[in-house]
Amino acid sequence: MAKRKVLKYGDERLRKVAKNVADFDDDLFQLLDDMRDTMYANNGMGLAAPQVGVLKRVVIMDLGGSFFELINPEIVRCEGEQEDEEGCLSVPNFSDIVKRPEKVTVKAKDRYGYDLEISGEKYFARCVSHEIDHLNGVLYIDKSKNGKKYIEKYGKK
Ligand code: NI
Repeated sequence: MAKRKVLKYGDERLRKVAKNVADFDDDLFQLLDDMRDTMYANNGMGLAAPQVGVLKRVVIMDLGGSFFELINPEIVRCEGEQEDEEGCLSVPNFSDIVKRPEKVTVKAKDRYGYDLEISGEKYFARCVSHEIDHLNGVLYIDKSKNGKKYIEKYGKK
């Protein structure tokens, strides 16, 4: 296991659409284990593979002790709306209010390729929406209340 470097705003890999994982193999296990080390080393609660420069649809999250590994995640149901503050390891020194669904249901695979379906609200819904956005090259500042200010300050990247 090893830490990997977290890409910061301005790196073009954060803006790419990641590809589905086809092989549930040792490379994937290594990526997941490294992402976990990287997330904890940076006190993050979620991390998407593009943030470590790997353009694959892989997300991990730790929400108060519940650890999730989601491969090829897809939101299949959304309900309601919530607004709260978010930050991102790839967008340093900033946090902002973002509108998200209140409840989501996600379909994904686990690291062995087995089907998962998870429903959650509040923080789970917020976090999984944020991480899946990363897989589509979307950062929370693209949709947050004052994100325009950040983008104006550092340039559109
Ligand atoms: Ni993020």
